Parts: sequence; C-alpha cells; structure tokens
Amino acid sequence: LHIVHIAAEMAPVAKVGGLADVVAGLSKALQNKGHSVEIILPKYDCMQHDQITNFKVLDVIQSYFDGNIFSNNVWTGTVEGLPVYFIEPQHPSKLFWRAQYYGEHDDFKRYSYFSRAALELLYQSGKKIDMIHCHDWQTAFVAPLYWDIYAARGFNSARICFTCHNFEYQGTAPAPDLSYCGLDVEQLDRPDRMQDNAHGRINVAKGGIVYSNIVTTVSPTYALEVRSEGGHGLQDTLKMYSRKFVGILNGIDTEIWNPSTDRFLAVQYSATDLQGKAANKAFLRKQLGLYSEDASQPLVGCVTRLVPQKGLHLIRHAIHKTSELGGQFVLLGSSPVPHIQSEFEGVADQFQQNNNIRLILKYEEALSHCIYAASDMFIIPSMFEPCGLTQMIAMRYGSVPIVRKTGGLSDSVFDFDDETIPIELRNGFAFDRADEQDLSGCLERAFSYYSRNPMVWKQLVQKDMQIDFSWDSPASQYENLYQSAVAQVTLFYT
Ligand code: ADP
Ligand code: GLC
Repeated sequence: LHIVHIAAEMAPVAKVGGLADVVAGLSKALQNKGHSVEIILPKYDCMQHDQITNFKVLDVIQSYFDGNIFSNNVWTGTVEGLPVYFIEPQHPSKLFWRAQYYGEHDDFKRYSYFSRAALELLYQSGKKIDMIHCHDWQTAFVAPLYWDIYAARGFNSARICFTCHNFEYQGTAPAPDLSYCGLDVEQLDRPDRMQDNAHGRINVAKGGIVYSNIVTTVSPTYALEVRSEGGHGLQDTLKMYSRKFVGILNGIDTEIWNPSTDRFLAVQYSATDLQGKAANKAFLRKQLGLYSEDASQPLVGCVTRLVPQKGLHLIRHAIHKTSELGGQFVLLGSSPVPHIQSEFEGVADQFQQNNNIRLILKYEEALSHCIYAASDMFIIPSMFEPCGLTQMIAMRYGSVPIVRKTGGLSDSVFDFDDETIPIELRNGFAFDRADEQDLSGCLERAFSYYSRNPMVWKQLVQKDMQIDFSWDSPASQYENLYQSAVAQVTLFYT
C-alpha cells in the first residue's frame, strides 16, 4: 500500500511527546512490512534539523487559505530512513516560525493551513495513494477537506484513517474560522457533522471522526473509556461511529529504545547482563549529585510532560513518599503551562539540599534515556492515559513500572500481586484510585519486594526487559484495517 501520514510531530526531528514516537515508529514498521510510507510535517523553525539527511527544497506549490493563494516551499529529507516532506508556507504570519511547536494563539489557523497545504501537495503530486493517516485534531481537517473538496476533483483513490491520541485536545474554534481552509461552514456546522457542544463553535476532532473511514485511538481500554465518561464531550459521536472505531495499543521503536545499543548510556546492557544497569545507576547518581552509601538504594524515575493528565499531585506525593521509604527520586519533566512549571521549580528548590531527590525541569532526550536505564522503578500516576509509552520504555530498560490503572496503562502493566492475572503476565505494580493512599500502598509493595526479595525482583526486571513492545503487532493491526478500508467499494466514509 501507499500510505501517507500527515502529522504535527515526528521523532526525533519534531517531538513534543508520544505522538512523535508513534508517527515515526508506526511508519518504520509499515515500511518494514513492504509498504511505501511517506510523512508530511510542517517545517518548524525549532525542529532538530540535524536529524534530517538530504534536506533540500523539492518544489513550490500553491495552496488556498482564507480567500488567498499562497506559495509553499516543499522540502524533502530522510528521517530515520523514512521519506519526509516539510511544508514551509510563504505566509505573512510566519505560521511555523515561532520558536515552539504548539501553544500559539492561532494554532487553529496554523494547522488548518497546514492540513490544506498537505492535501494540496498530495493532489498535485498525481501519485496514487491508498491511505492517508492523520493524527490528532491538528491534522483532522484533512478528513472533511478530502471528502468535501478533493474527492470532488477526482482525487479519491485514498481512504482516510484518523487516530486521536488524546481526546482532551479537540481543536475547537468559532464556527466561521472553519472557512479559512475552504471548508463550507454552513454544511458542517451541524450536530451530526462538526458542530461542537459549546454554542457557536466547531470541533475538528469530531470532523475527523465523522469523515474518516477508520478512526482509532491508542489503546483498547481508552477506546472504551472515551465512549463513556472519558470522551470530553465526544462520547455520543464515538458511540454512534463505534463500527469504525477501534483502540490499538501503541508499540515503541525498539531500535531507538534498546539498552544494548543505546548510545546515550554510560554502559550498554541487556537482560542477561544487568551489571551495566547498575553502572548506569551509579553514573546518573554521580552526574546529578544523588549521594548514597548503598548502591542498592532504590531509585525511582519519572519522565513526563507536566500537565494535569499526568496526575501532578500524585507525582508530588510520590516524591515525598519515596523519600519517606528511604529511596531516591529523579523527575525529568517540563510543562507548557508556566504556573505548573514554576510550581515544580518550587518543589525542586525545596529538595535542593536533599541528597535523594532531583527534579530536572526541562526536555532532554539524552537524560531521559539515562533515567530509564538507571532507575529501578518508574512511576506514572496518570489521571487518564490514552496509551502511555514511558511504561513500555521503562520495562525495556528494566525499570519496573508503578502506574495508575487507566487507559493504556491498564493494557500494558499488570500487577505483580493480582492473582486474577496469569503470573507470566504480571510485570509491575498498579493502583486503582487517583489518591495518595492508593499510590502509597503501591509504592510500599514495590519497595518491599525490592528490598526483601532481590532474586524475585531480578527475575521481574529480566522478564520486563524481554516483553515484546515492538511495533510489529500493532502495525499488523493497522495494516489489516487499512486493507479492509481500501477494499471497501464505497468511496465515502460513512
Ligand atoms: P505523552 O505523549 O502524553 O507525553 P507518552 O508516554 O505517550 O506521553 O510519551 C512521552 C514521550 O515523551 C516519551 O518518549 C518520553 O520519554 C518523552 N518525554 C516526556 N517528557 C520528556 C522530557 N522532559 N524530556 C525528554 N523526553 C521526554
Ligand atoms: C498522547 C497520549 C499518550 C499516548 C501518546 C501517543 O500524547 O497522552 O498517552 O501514548 O499520545 O499515542
């Protein structure tokens, strides 16, 4: 199949969170299965240009926006062995020249522009495309644009897949703003189309659901949750379109996340040689000034965006509780929200003189790898979690996950003491309620195994490192979905 992903992020060139990992990892896995895969991204000024090879301008295309026609430089390059196109709009508002990826006042406008230009690029290329896969609201404009504008021009060989990685973010705006990219507001501002629940507003994620042939989210449990209380207002739409909606658990890129080849680590290691893991722990402790007389003192890691979804009060509680239990804690996190960032800076200051706690409040790829490798346990106390990749990465590096049972965490972490689960599947520690008591109990259990049963713990670590979290199986599931959509005789999405 010829598959094109249109997205706002792709690792490692333009990464904010897990979306970037998924776009790269899924694309690579599909390419390995013999499909022809391309990716279209905005050309951000702040992206990691050094991650692109053969980067050059390929073409200039014209695209429509808000009553005008604009030129766009189309750059090409190779990222992680994949062909990527970067769209650089010649628009006076310098749409992707903002020194950050998201969080601009005109994000709705920027991404509706990008979605339209990306489709224009595909249309003008004349290539036969089987599947256009868009991700999150930023590129969900593609679904209605394709069926309402491009299909009518004869560009209709493709089917559309929309993956929503997080229903908290839906892309809403005053209804007239939808016309910027050429969509017909009158047609679409209807409850069964793109009308938002809030009066006078339009909802792009809803358009992605209504207008796509396939709608997915990133874990089976989250797919259930969003059809009930967790859908942030889209539960009825999702229920209505259940027949084309499915949850597929993400994988991780096992080449990037591989402790036996990871170039960021002080020492590489594997499940059969855990001495290297101990060396990484010693190295990180030294690097961060975490002093310890006892090499086996447990180290708890946490690598996260600091947003309410991640259970901020529980992260704070975990820091205190770890200290109380005699462990060490390293948090690597950053927040797009200034008051959250400064709140955590306050916590960091509070522990500055403490030899057991370090908070590093920034985004840093290299350090994240070192924390996965150095930590014994890894905490993810999310309020909700569509999939979550950090628990899978942690396991691959032999750091035992401690998670709240929600969304994709429920589908990938199975409690060590839960006798209803086959013993061979039990791989971490999990708690139910989003409260401090449940979290404390869970941490206590993990600490107790760690200190009282080192052999049991070692076996758990080795087992976790060998679980297959690769993209192999999820990519096959996407492949099957694509193939059945492509085989559909009907052109349309419903
Ligand atoms: P989300 O996409 O909601 O942030 P995921 O668990 O799906 O959560 O993915 C998070 C990804 O971002 C992982 O690859 C993780 O290592 C990375 N990450 C998160 N915060 C940081 C940070 N401060 N520095 C480096 N990497 C980070
Ligand atoms: C979103 C979700 C996260 C998921 C990621 C990749 O950022 O918050 O749970 O793992 O997308 O799908």
